This record gives sequence, C-alpha cells and structure tokens, in this order.
Amino acid sequence: MKNSFLKMGALLTALFLNNMLHAQAVNESKKIVVNVSKNLGNIEPTMWGVFFEDINLGADGGIYAELVKNRSFEFYKPLMGWTVQQQPANEGGMLVLNRQGDNLANPRYLSVQLDHANNGNVSITNDGFRGMGIKEGVLYDFSVMIKQEVNNIKLNIELINAKNEIIGQGVVVSNNTNGTWKKLKTSFKANQTDPRAKLKIWFEGNGEINMDMISLFPQDTWKQRPGGMRADMIQLLADLKPGFIRFPGGCIVEGFDLSLRYQWKKTIGPIEERQLIINRWNSEFAHKPTPDYFQTFGLGFYEYFQLAEDIGAAPLPILNCGMACQFNSSELVTMDKLDPYVQDALDLIEFANGDTTTTYGKVRASLGHAASFHLTMMGVGNENWGPQYLERAKIFEQAIKSKYPNFKLVYSSGTDPSGDRFQLLNTTLRAMNADVIDEHYYRKPDWFLNNANRYDNYPRTGSKVFAGEYAAQSDFTVSVNNKNNWLTAISEAAFMTGLERNASVVNMASYAPLFAHTDGWQWTPDLIWVDNLRSYGTPDYYVQKMFSTNKGSRVVSMTLDEKALVGQDSLYATASIDTMANELIIKVVNAANKKQNTTLSLVGVNKVSNVAKVLVMQNDLSDMNSFEKPENVAPKETTLNIRGKIFNYELSPYSFHTIKIKLLK
Ligand code: AHR
Repeated sequence: MKNSFLKMGALLTALFLNNMLHAQAVNESKKIVVNVSKNLGNIEPTMWGVFFEDINLGADGGIYAELVKNRSFEFYKPLMGWTVQQQPANEGGMLVLNRQGDNLANPRYLSVQLDHANNGNVSITNDGFRGMGIKEGVLYDFSVMIKQEVNNIKLNIELINAKNEIIGQGVVVSNNTNGTWKKLKTSFKANQTDPRAKLKIWFEGNGEINMDMISLFPQDTWKQRPGGMRADMIQLLADLKPGFIRFPGGCIVEGFDLSLRYQWKKTIGPIEERQLIINRWNSEFAHKPTPDYFQTFGLGFYEYFQLAEDIGAAPLPILNCGMACQFNSSELVTMDKLDPYVQDALDLIEFANGDTTTTYGKVRASLGHAASFHLTMMGVGNENWGPQYLERAKIFEQAIKSKYPNFKLVYSSGTDPSGDRFQLLNTTLRAMNADVIDEHYYRKPDWFLNNANRYDNYPRTGSKVFAGEYAAQSDFTVSVNNKNNWLTAISEAAFMTGLERNASVVNMASYAPLFAHTDGWQWTPDLIWVDNLRSYGTPDYYVQKMFSTNKGSRVVSMTLDEKALVGQDSLYATASIDTMANELIIKVVNAANKKQNTTLSLVGVNKVSNVAKVLVMQNDLSDMNSFEKPENVAPKETTLNIRGKIFNYELSPYSFHTIKIKLLK
C-alpha cells in the first residue's frame, strides 16, 4: 500500500513537473496569429518567375542542345573548336571561304579538297562546348549544308570518346548539288555515355566539298523537338511552375555597344540565316575569359516564346531601348534615330499576338505557330539609368500605349535598389505612372534579412514592382568565391516572405542568373548548375520552388504581437490562401541558430483538417548541393497533426517551413 502511495506520489510529481515544463514551453512559445479574414491583397499568377540570360553558357553550350561549337565557321577565329587533319599535308586543301556579298548573315564555309593521295586521311574534329555530353542509347541527328560539283563523296561521322574509341557512327554520301546548297542528314545511336566526346568527320572521294552549318543534336530534347533544348535543364525550369519567363537577359539585351545589342528580328527564321555575334560575357571578366562564347541565336525569340508556352509561363521579353551597356561603351542612339528601336517593340507585339493577316503575325504562323503567344508585357531596356533612359522610356511609353493601351511596360530602376540613380528613376517613373518598375539586388545575406520589410511601406497604388534580379552573395558581387549555400538561400527565403506579404505591390520576382555551366561560367552565384550531362538545383533553387509551387492566390495577415514577422527573434513569415484548393499556406523562416517554439492561432476559419502537409528545409549554413548530392539541401515532406485552430509548432535552427492546412466548411 505504502509503495502504491509512493508510486502515486512519484507519478504526480512527474505529472506536475511535466505540466510545469509544458507551461514554460507554452510561455516561451511565440504566439503567432494567422487571420484569414484579414486580406492583404491578391497574389498575381505571375508572382514567381524565372530570369533567363545567355550567360555562363546558358544558351549556346547550355539549354540550346546543339553539340557542335562554331558550326558555321563564323567565330572570329573561323576554325575555333575545330581540329583539321590532312595526310599528306595539302597546302590549300582545307580553306575557310567567304561569300560576303551573297550571304551576309553566314558568309563563311569550309572547303575541303580530296584526291587519291589523301583519300581517307582527311578529317575535321569538333570539340563541342566543353566536350560533348553523349548518352548511351540516345539517337543523334547529324546534318550539314553541302555544295559541290562532284559525286560520291562519303562523309564518315564518328563520335569519339576520351580514349579515342568510336562510340557512335553514321555515314552520308554527297553528290553534285548543281550550284546550290543542300542539307544532308543522318541519325545514329551512341553506344556509350561520355561527358566529353568529340565529333569527327573523315572523308572518302575525289574533288572539292564545301560545308557549312555542321550540326549534331540529341533526339531526346525537351518535348523531342528536333534542334531543340536540353530536356533535363528545361525540366528543372518546368518544375518551378514559373509564372513568367524573362528573356533574353540581362546585359545581353544592351550589348557591349549598340552593334552588339540583342535584335530579335535577327533571331527568327532559318538558323543558317541568323547572324551570330560575340557574347558580351565572352571577355567581360578578365579573370574568367570565355573566348569561345558566341550567340548563334539558334535559340531565338520564336523558341523563347515556345518555351514560355511549354512551361506555362507568361513571356516577358526585354528589349533594347537605344542604349548599350552603361558599364561598357555607354553608347546611345540619338533621339532622332530611336524609331527603329520603338518599331522593333511594336513589331514584337504583332509577332507574338497579331492575327495571321498582319505582317509579323504571318511570320509567326509561317514558323509554325498560328495561334497567339499571348504577350501582355515587355521590358524597355535592362539595367539602364539616367535622364537619357527616361527620355527614351517616355518615347516607348507613348508609342506602345497609344497602339496597345492595356499592354504592360516594365521599366528599369538601374543597377541598385538605392542611391541617386535609383531615386531619380523610381520617382520619375512613378510620376509617369509606369506600369511596372524592375528592381535589382545582388547583396549580402544580411541585406536580404534586413530588407524583408522593404515593401511594407511602398504605395499600394500606382506602379507595381518587379524584383527582376536578385541573389544573396556569400562573398561580394561578381566574386568568383560566391557560393550557393544554405546561408544565401535562407536569407532569400526570409526576404521572399516580404515579397509575398506585399504581393499587392510586388507582382513579379525572379532570381538571377538562372544557369551556369561548371566548366564555362562567368558569374556566381546561379540558380541551377550543369555540366555536359547533369544538372542540379541549388539550395536557392529549392527556396524558389517552395514559394512558386506553394503560392496561394491571396495574402492574409500573419502577426506576432500584432506586427508582421519581419525579423523579430529572427523569424520571418507570410500566409496565403489558395482559393482553388481551399488551403491555408503558412511559410515561416527561422534564421536563428536556435530552436524556437511557436503557437499558431488560426482566426477567421471555421474548421481545419486534422493533418497538415509540411515541407521543411533545415541545414547548416554552409551546406550546398552538388552533382553527387543534388538534394542535400532540399525540402523534406512530413505531416503535422493539428487538433483545432490553435497548435504548437517547433522551428528547428536555420530552417524554412511551409505548412499547408485544408480549410473545411
Ligand atoms: O544576372 C547577371 C547580370 O546582372 C545581368 O545581365 C544584369 O542585368 C545584371 O547586372
């Protein structure tokens, strides 16, 4: 009996202690209120998008799946990327010829002389961009433009691995083309995977053969489109379910000087008629030279629009406004010569949307897309600034709005989110009632944490904000030591809670840059890293994905002591309702190095489901992803049992949580 009392006493003491501890935990717990009936504004379908630029081998050598580098011999060194062999050596037997007057876009081609002496011992080999990523079992499409006056020249096409073994081969025989250029094609299967294969062509026959546009594409492109895009890279974009895709940049729009600006009309139609130019990132950074970086425009505006449609993203083209990059040449077109630039913008709207009886609508249809691409917005210039920008912007505004009053125009606020340049542009553009103002921030993680409230006091009416380029820099901007780690990603997550909370002001946001090739990059950090065969999303990618795939359609109030969570105790948060799914979506970042307890009270709801879906990212700040561990930092899915409208939720150190709760009638 005594024993039972003792046992009971111990049990009560334990219960008491437990209650005490529980009370303490509850006391320490941050009391957070989510009030579903307090609406803070709608979230636009465009809210989270992607920024694409041909930087870091993003297009050529990246998403554009062409494997042959310098296929048309138009690089400033005409044989860059090619190794030629002739045995015995034949002076003048291999020439780069130039038909300047006949073909301005693509004047050069390769002429090869074959005779009995060198038969079978003449070859050309292409290195690819950083080698060619070849996959066992995949079919490859080889093609070449030929002009010749003899018959029976045999082209032996071989894929060669690092050990100089043949891992795939095909043959084409070319005959007299009677003075015209003809395309020859063949397809063959690779029997081995190799990340750095080469393409060799060796010849048999007699006489001269002229060749241009020597091309090799895998057949397993995105949507199996011939001459298309690298499927693994596009899949990573599609998985983000982006609301928009901004293209083609970035500084690439401006060009080093105006002659090197991006001109969309030169990027559509047959690829052999698209004139390549040097990529402005080729020599931008002396410490990261990329001498073989050109823009072939095989990936042009038609392909960008098609891509946008494929991944369900609204297209957002950015056009040159008569200003070259102000970090480079600062070249400006004079105001009396601005018309062609404005006309390019008007024609682009017609190209994207015009019916097929219009000049450019007809061009679009002839390329294979009779239906509209539903273009609703466009950027006027990239990172341009100063009174010269405003002067030109006003001309664009006037011309485009008078023809298309509902078309949205996105304007630059320069390179930085503060300072004199920003002030001038932001004030003047707001006074103009500009539709959207593009803000860029490449800043340290601290800046992102400290600016989670940046938009809390922005005007709710008038111009909207496009957070068009941002990325936390673990080192300093354009440092080669920048890393994509959990520190950069969690600070962006904290900042993005502020973007979502202010979705009535910020209508669009995109991380930049998007892609980087591990052997060919110029700029870090980047959202997605690739080599010739593989790709992975960084921690920053998974933060973007958390927001874009758990977006909701309207923001609701979420407060601690009646204030939005913008860094109190290192907590950052936002809540939204997905009206279609009837779901409450709570996002919380704990940027502290300690565990924190919260008690979440849901106000303005009737009933909620017992089980919530939870996605958690929690890592050490230096953790990163890699080809070997692509999801080292990525959300883990779990569930949370909730009994009623008040529940406890524990936030682990340095963590980001998305909690999805079904609202019941
Ligand atoms: O994203 C890289 C570059 O950063 C963009 O081209 C430019 O707009 C910005 O300066």
